[in-house]
Amino acid sequence: MTKLLLQLHAAAAVADRRHGGRPGPGRRHPPTPRHASAAGRFAPASLVLCLLALAAAATTLALALTLHRHGPDPAAPGASPRGFAVVINTWRRHALLRRSAAHYAACPGVDAVHVVWSEPRPPPERLRRGLAVLNANGTRRVRVRFETGGGGDSSLNNRFRPIRGLAADAVFSVDDDLIVPCSTLRFAFDVWRSAPNAMVGFVPRMHWLADPRGSTKEYRYGSWWSVWWTGTYSMVLSKASFFHRRYLDLYTNQMLLSIRKYVNENRNCEDIAMSFLVANATGAPPIWVQGRIFEIGSSGISSLKGHGLQRSRCLNTFAAMYGNMPLVATTVKAVDSRRSWFW
Ligand SMILES: *[C@@H]1O[C@H](CO)[C@@H](O)[C@H](O)[C@H]1NC(C)=O
Ligand SMILES: *[C@@H]1O[C@H](CO)[C@@H](O)[C@H](O)[C@H]1NC(C)=O
Repeated sequence: MTKLLLQLHAAAAVADRRHGGRPGPGRRHPPTPRHASAAGRFAPASLVLCLLALAAAATTLALALTLHRHGPDPAAPGASPRGFAVVINTWRRHALLRRSAAHYAACPGVDAVHVVWSEPRPPPERLRRGLAVLNANGTRRVRVRFETGGGGDSSLNNRFRPIRGLAADAVFSVDDDLIVPCSTLRFAFDVWRSAPNAMVGFVPRMHWLADPRGSTKEYRYGSWWSVWWTGTYSMVLSKASFFHRRYLDLYTNQMLLSIRKYVNENRNCEDIAMSFLVANATGAPPIWVQGRIFEIGSSGISSLKGHGLQRSRCLNTFAAMYGNMPLVATTVKAVDSRRSWFW
């Protein structure tokens, strides 16, 4: 019961958030995140919203009980002539790598799994043999290949090195500790096929103007909470996103050398650099796909202190290098219509 009430409150808060804080259509700058102090204003509205949410929840339940949407499975063989490559970025976490490589190799639509190897030593025999088993799967043949072309240097730019012999245009770039369920992955791939120039992913972030009314253009990195609160984002992180393979070539061979150098020296922000690159090339925002993803390890760089400051510095440095801010904000989100009952 308590849990239900909490959920209703959360629903009310979300509804309230949706009614306020929308950036006006003519607004030129990205809005600043609204702060929790706005909560005071929402007390009178909250009862009504709770009741609405209750009614909505009951309706959803009834629909879910009486209807079961079955349709042609877009993941069925024949529905799509081509699949995509999964590119796993890994660093000294062999157990995690084994798990995630095995997971992705078994997902329908995956043509091949490429492991970006940046450790100074070549992949150990035990790991190679463990992953080679995936190649010999009787039902499907998925190639798992180590990409060792970095020559033992551990630059974060390695994850975007072009990969020889890619069969398909779509690349799903993912960290070794992130598991995206196969059906969710498949859905995101379908979104990408509708917009093959865009970055399509699960982890949205935003660049906020530090002082929207001021004349200086200083940006702040907006973490998940600011995206959740405002529904606005301008990047999807490459630790779980689809993009066209040509961006690998653009990143490695065409992008400003100073940006690759910055990423290399600061050991951070390769994902922001990729977001800038795609935004500059397309003039359009990325696409955030609804879907749960699962973290199976936790010692990532984002848990380090001062991460937000470093990320803000990257935004400002890259914007200065580009001479403008290419990132485009949006509030569009792609949802699987089989899973949403209101329109
Ligand atoms: C082989 O593929 C099937 C389905 O594609 C999967 O369920 C199974 O786990 C795979 N086996 C191995 C060893 O990966
Ligand atoms: C941004 O895109 C334009 C047009 O495609 C291109 O000419 C320019 O070199 C790009 N800027 C950077 C810094 O890559």
